[in-house]
Amino acid sequence: MTQFYGTLTPEKTEREEKNMQLVRKGAGECMVLLENDGALPLKNTGKIALYGAGARHTIKGGTGSGDVNSREVINIEQGLKDAGFTITTDRWLTAYDELLKETKAAHQAEVNRLAEERQQPPFIIEFELPFKEPDLQAITEEDVKASDTDTAVLVIARNSGEGADRWNKKGDYLLNDGEVKALEFLGAHYEKTIVLLNIGGIIDATVLKETAGINAVLLTGQLGNSGGLSVADVLTGKQVPSGKLTDTWAKAYADYPSSEGFSHNNGNIDDEYYTDGIYVGYRYFDTFGIEPHYCFGYGKGYTDFAIENVKAVVEGSGVKVTARVTNTGKAYAGKEVVQVYVSAPEGALEKPYQELKAYKKTALLAPGESETAELTFALKDMASYSEEKAAWILEPGEYLIRVGNSSRNTHVAAVLTVEEEKRTEQLKNLFNGDKELNEISGKGRKAYTYETEAEEIKNAERILVPADAVETRTVVYQEARPILTTDKTEKLTIQDVIDGKATVEELAAQLTVEELADLCVGTLRTSMGGDPEGKDNVIGNASATVPGAAGDTSSIIWESRGVKNLILADGPAGLRLQPHFKTTKEGELLPGGEGMGDIVAAFDESKIPADAVDHYQYCTAIPIGTELAQTWNPELIEEIGYMVGKEMQEFHVDLWLAPALNIHRNPLCGRNFEYYSEDPLIAGKCAAAMTLGVQKDGKGGTTIKHFAANNLEDNRMFSNNHMSERALREIYLKGFEIAVKEAQPLSIMTSYNLINGLHTANSHDLIQAAARDEWGFEGVVMTDWFTSQDVPAISGTGHIYPISASTGCVYAGNDLQMPGCRKNVDDIVEAVKTGKELDGYRLTLGDVQFCVTNLLRVVAKVMK
Ligand code: BGC
Repeated sequence: MTQFYGTLTPEKTEREEKNMQLVRKGAGECMVLLENDGALPLKNTGKIALYGAGARHTIKGGTGSGDVNSREVINIEQGLKDAGFTITTDRWLTAYDELLKETKAAHQAEVNRLAEERQQPPFIIEFELPFKEPDLQAITEEDVKASDTDTAVLVIARNSGEGADRWNKKGDYLLNDGEVKALEFLGAHYEKTIVLLNIGGIIDATVLKETAGINAVLLTGQLGNSGGLSVADVLTGKQVPSGKLTDTWAKAYADYPSSEGFSHNNGNIDDEYYTDGIYVGYRYFDTFGIEPHYCFGYGKGYTDFAIENVKAVVEGSGVKVTARVTNTGKAYAGKEVVQVYVSAPEGALEKPYQELKAYKKTALLAPGESETAELTFALKDMASYSEEKAAWILEPGEYLIRVGNSSRNTHVAAVLTVEEEKRTEQLKNLFNGDKELNEISGKGRKAYTYETEAEEIKNAERILVPADAVETRTVVYQEARPILTTDKTEKLTIQDVIDGKATVEELAAQLTVEELADLCVGTLRTSMGGDPEGKDNVIGNASATVPGAAGDTSSIIWESRGVKNLILADGPAGLRLQPHFKTTKEGELLPGGEGMGDIVAAFDESKIPADAVDHYQYCTAIPIGTELAQTWNPELIEEIGYMVGKEMQEFHVDLWLAPALNIHRNPLCGRNFEYYSEDPLIAGKCAAAMTLGVQKDGKGGTTIKHFAANNLEDNRMFSNNHMSERALREIYLKGFEIAVKEAQPLSIMTSYNLINGLHTANSHDLIQAAARDEWGFEGVVMTDWFTSQDVPAISGTGHIYPISASTGCVYAGNDLQMPGCRKNVDDIVEAVKTGKELDGYRLTLGDVQFCVTNLLRVVAKVMK
């Protein structure tokens, strides 16, 4: 009989409550106070005139596979009421409910119509056509009168999700007409107007900045299921906001250097040209001297800080910076983030104005209280990638160490002098661009500066970097994958591996080609569309044991050798499982109840026996990736990761399909909410912290994704990203490198897109050479869903690039094709047995064995 792990009663569990409180406790750190003239925190609870799309329908996170089916979402209205406020705009809010209901019904009808017309599952249509909140109805004098208060709160909300990019249009990146009118009206009619941004990605803040009478703007973001409580905590000052932006908020969308050609903007969604090169985010704005609305690293608190006594020294192979941070305010406690940036000298390679190299958040400091923050980074972290030398190099010259509390509020603390060029890592060029890119150049541009900068540079202490202080290495790449053999004649099991009596190589050596091929192909979750009964599909156990999990690995040698199937479930905003399911008394799963966001298939009551058993798997929806990053607090992220890890243990999930750490190259990427930042250091540190938390008990692991350069959503399965090796390594791979080196996640998921003409899923250079050989990755690599099988219902038609090859995955060392199909297994077997090229790749037995050893190593770890 199948074993299930949910609870059998619908009551909220202690664990749910405890975890909600844990998230709530850290939520103030996620929120960024963009503007405040002293209106916040609110001095006393009283009446509040609450308006806006997110007031009652607070968005907890984005849509798609990253959506978590939590039990409840505490909206901002509820949160404020719980905190003791009286909401006096019920009439306006109820009218908006009606408007929303109508818009949702119309949207649903359109989704159903398209699903029917295109013969695609509705969730795929939802991906392409995410629901957009209707514009606000007018706020009237009558509303103001009835509200009977001097304080208005307007909650602006934006939804976005997987499968579609956002638009530089009203109601999306730009404010709607109704929102603009509401801001003007509230600013003119209330003494205090506070704007809350319940959004998953950047919007144009111009109107917010320019409208008279706006007293405070708080980026609440999307905080998971306890969001309303957290917002109330911050508005009342019970918690202080201490988040800092992990992106640059430009004055105009066109200021982002990737805007012109991004995704649908130029009508070409087949090819994306990364002409912005290394100039992503603040690297661009600073180097090209463009002033943003809000710079990277910016965020106010309820108090002020002084950062003094800043010292930088070279210690061993690293740089140590110390700074004394004091809360100089009188009334409120706060946390400050010390940020260290380095400006490298121009040499053969051009350099951005500055790059973040280290950061440290203080403890909660009471007024008058101080703390000495200590930050370190390696000298080799200051290196840039030279394509000419195929190496990371530290060019000779002066490296400025800048310390402050945002990218545009720093002072020069010291100047490190490197006398001779140092090759910190000798590699191979792996990703030569396939087109002439014509990248933009920062040379000769008038960079950002500030009044005292030149003086500070002149007077700063010069520190000579000793020639032998810089660590250097030369990478050795895998040459071949030998065919594994073993002398052991007894039938080996995974237990033998766990007990140290055999190696994964020996176990793999005993497997047949058919078994090996099957292990390389993951199974389909029946509800994911396609034809579950079809001849092509490999139906997995995951949906039978952990309903709602996104898939599992093969159980072909479970009985014979004890190798269990790994259960994989989504994130990153918590664990995505089916919250409620039914089984027969005997334990057979009954259809229905499956959900992704709003799409929940009802149980077909006529097929549910009277004695059916109900099961519940409620998980905690945590803040979206960007919100977590805005904490600049790896310890907090690790704590939340540990919490998720415990939920995985409770529901028997082995690999979490998270965290996601693609770079916010452009604000319109539909999945930016899942990702952390425009900066690779932040992205990597967050993913590492999350992984350390999830993997702390050694019972399950993370899957860092989407490897790599999954920076847009339109045509995501066939978008070809053309970029230079330097940009790829310095910007788009760096976060993955950091996460692998610092936390050794159990798994990596490749992305859908192509890089320079090759699907990442088929890229030996990316998976084997970069992740394994250069960074030392020891886990399993898997594809994103349906990467290697052509399911027109999922991947659509009319794309100019082909689907990635199943044989190519094995060749690349992409160990697991998720979810694969029977044809994938057959292709692998055929390629190995005939030795002939299939779909462009030749496979040896050693190639397939190699993939399987990677999988077995992870299975052994989680079964231990
Ligand atoms: C997404 C992945 C996700 C997978 C499984 C894909 O559509 O891109 O991020 O983990 O589905 O649900």
